[in-house]
Amino acid sequence: MKITKICCIGAGYVGGPTMAVIAKKNPHIKVTIVDINAERIAAWNDKDLSKLPIYEPGLAEIVEETRGKNLFFSTEIDETIKESEMIFISVNTPTKTYGKGKGMAADLKYVELCARNIAEVATTDKIVVEKSTLPVRTAQAIKSILHNTGSDVNFSILSNPEFLAEGTAVQDLLNPDRVLIGGESEEAIESLANVYGSWVSQDRILRTNVWSSELSKLTANAFLAQRISSINAISELCEHTEANVNEVAKAIGMDSRIGPKFLNASIGFGGSCFQKDILNLVYIARSYNLQAVADYWEQVIILNDHQKRRFSDHLISTLYNTVSGKKIAMLGWAFKKDTNDTRESAAIYVADHLLNEQANIAVYDPKVNGKKVQADLNYLNTRTEEENMELVQSFNDPYEVTNDAHAVAIMTEWDEFKTYDWKKIYNQMKKPAFIFDGRNILNKEEMTKIGFEYSSIGQ
Ligand code: NAD
Ligand code: UGA
Repeated sequence: MKITKICCIGAGYVGGPTMAVIAKKNPHIKVTIVDINAERIAAWNDKDLSKLPIYEPGLAEIVEETRGKNLFFSTEIDETIKESEMIFISVNTPTKTYGKGKGMAADLKYVELCARNIAEVATTDKIVVEKSTLPVRTAQAIKSILHNTGSDVNFSILSNPEFLAEGTAVQDLLNPDRVLIGGESEEAIESLANVYGSWVSQDRILRTNVWSSELSKLTANAFLAQRISSINAISELCEHTEANVNEVAKAIGMDSRIGPKFLNASIGFGGSCFQKDILNLVYIARSYNLQAVADYWEQVIILNDHQKRRFSDHLISTLYNTVSGKKIAMLGWAFKKDTNDTRESAAIYVADHLLNEQANIAVYDPKVNGKKVQADLNYLNTRTEEENMELVQSFNDPYEVTNDAHAVAIMTEWDEFKTYDWKKIYNQMKKPAFIFDGRNILNKEEMTKIGFEYSSIGQ
């Protein structure tokens, strides 16, 4: 099928950047991203590019280049589905918060609503592409909905999971390690392969069956997260043995079978996907009664929770077993650098734990505002909104946030944190002045020389 119009349902962290790059590389295709969230669509259409709902290096430039030419953002979902030959489903698939599989399974209600919406309004043949991360065998459910409409419209279903990481989304999309397309219909697979073929060489476009494609996405995230939990587990052992986790990571990473990437010990991984996707994998394994498989992967999450917890426990015990009434300056709130996304950020859980101990939390993040910080804490429901408001304050300046603080906790690895005048920060803090470097980005020797009581992960 020749593709001239693409619709993407879901204008989020995946739909936005992915479609912007597809539009940039395929000027002959009209790409429209639709969403039920009118506010989000309005932000995508804002003339002021700093107001785009998602911050990603390089994204604003591509939106500026393509928006209004062949990239459009709209709330006209039905119309856009109707006119498009190819429809991407890129909606959120969070962990279920109710009913069967609560806290484990992926909530597929948004995906199902999309499938029903497409089934309802389509009058011509469509290729439907699963872009959201979905449990293995979801395509079966989508197929069943689409094929029982009573009309003679033909639907081909493809799985095309996305592997971009936030903060490097544009680069990841422009130079993907691979593009994965799972499907039954060769014609549909080739139509999608042609869209990517505008900039990705064909040998990097992998064709598989639908189920391998769906499962590969969950597996990739599980393996990546497992590496972090593995190095974080070793970081705790380092702290008891005078080994240095950075040195260990370097030494093992030089083994070409292990490789150097993704071995940074940290306060624990965050982000909207690792935990959700592993929980989902565990749930699927249990549903097939594969207990050993489920237990194996669940351990990745258990270790990650432990890592977050032990960071805040260590902070409290170092501050003479009490943080009550003390100002703890948190540098960073996003789950990693170069994004404004805070979903499942370790900072939220560390702050929550410290707030239970009546700490005063002061936050500075270059891309996250105070409203978001409050919303993240309120979402946990641990205390009242008023209490969060009273105990947590956000600042726009790194020197203000650290002024009079008892301790600085580095939660995100933003590059700018390394460039601060740490002597100045030391001078204005309460003494002894503590740094808890949850990302191992500062130099221990330099910090100690300034006078800080410095501790980091696994050193
Ligand atoms: P998101 O929450 O940022 O965006 C999803 C959007 O879908 C929201 O704007 C929401 O309003 C919209 N939506 C929900 N239901 C809708 C409906 N019925 N009709 C129209 N719009 C609807 O989510 P995201 O981070 O972009 O993730 C989307 C999917 O991609 C998830 O399955 C996720 O696991 C996967 N994924 C995410 C990343 C990432 O880095 N964030 C990377 C790879 C894969
Ligand atoms: C991750 C995957 O890397 C993507 O391939 C995938 O598409 C995406 O999930 C998804 O499915 O959503 P993302 O969560 O955006 O991408 O970012 P990562 O770079 O993977 O970082 C995740 C978390 O792990 C962050 O909190 C980061 O700080 C932490 N991390 C990462 C470490 O603690 N150590 C590392 O060495 C690497």
